Amino acid sequence: MYLAYFGFRERPFSVTPDASYFFMTKQYEAALDTLLFAIRERLGFMVLTGEVGTGKTTLSRELLNRLDESVATAMLVNPLLSVPELLQAINRDFGNPVRILSPQRQIESLNKFLLKLHAARHTALVIVDESQNLSFEALEMIRMLSNLETDKAKLLQILLVGQPELDKKLAGHALRQLRQRIVTRSSLQPLQFLEMVRYITHRLTLAGGKGRVYIEPGAYRLLYRRTDGIPRLINMLCDRALTAAYVLDTPIITKGVMRQAVRDLQGWSEAPGWQFWKRLRWVAG
Ligand SMILES: Nc1ncnc2c1ncn2[C@@H]1O[C@H](COP(=O)(O)OP(=O)(O)O)[C@@H](O)[C@H]1O
Ligand SMILES: [Mg+2]
Repeated sequence: MYLAYFGFRERPFSVTPDASYFFMTKQYEAALDTLLFAIRERLGFMVLTGEVGTGKTTLSRELLNRLDESVATAMLVNPLLSVPELLQAINRDFGNPVRILSPQRQIESLNKFLLKLHAARHTALVIVDESQNLSFEALEMIRMLSNLETDKAKLLQILLVGQPELDKKLAGHALRQLRQRIVTRSSLQPLQFLEMVRYITHRLTLAGGKGRVYIEPGAYRLLYRRTDGIPRLINMLCDRALTAAYVLDTPIITKGVMRQAVRDLQGWSEAPGWQFWKRLRWVAG
């Protein structure tokens, strides 16, 4: 592995969402502000969409980090559950486990739990990740949960996070009641070119290897063309590029190294170009 070679403490471009690597941009900031406001004001229903890999799950975790203890939170990551299972998972994640699977019992218990929180001037937030996969029944159930309220405020704040298909699903006639309850919608776009450059520097710095790797402008441009600024793809390609640079025994990621990383990622590691670069390494070494 290239860790020791570049002096990294850990892999700078892991693809698991890691809050300690959180990188802020204007759009992430705007989405966070909107969501925090809606939660603080107990507005109810929120939607966050974006293409795969744009940072929705990462942003959701950052949101959780920013909430204080006056907000109880539950985060569901598997929306393929049945309605009773979903309710049970929400209760469980709130630390209010209910063993009986009957939806009615689950909702009663959830309501009691929420009223208790409300009496203590607290609130609760449930985040459902990958919401585009929720069944119609599950979405209807979630709409019913958003009915839990006192005369002044929503007892439960709900954030649906999902791919753009979620917006399409919500646009359907059958879900118009749910749609009418949505108070904020945010959508995440890929990074712009300069944001991508700063994003990469940010990760290299946090991993402890800044200054030991140099990425040439041409390599950045190729990277941007290949990833369209989508963080997950940027991570995958940069990880490959570091591996390629290590194999070539160079701290400089040229356009050629980046091209190699692209090929690697596409499974073309036996392509003639690869042999060429390997040979180059022997020549250089
Ligand atoms: N704001 C960000 N700061 C740091 N890393 C990010 C950010 N957004 C996305 N990433 C990285 O990009 C990858 C994909 O992000 P993820 O949140 O899983 O996307 P999504 O949920 O939209 O598919 C992860 O490895 C994550 O660490
Ligand atoms: Mg995700």
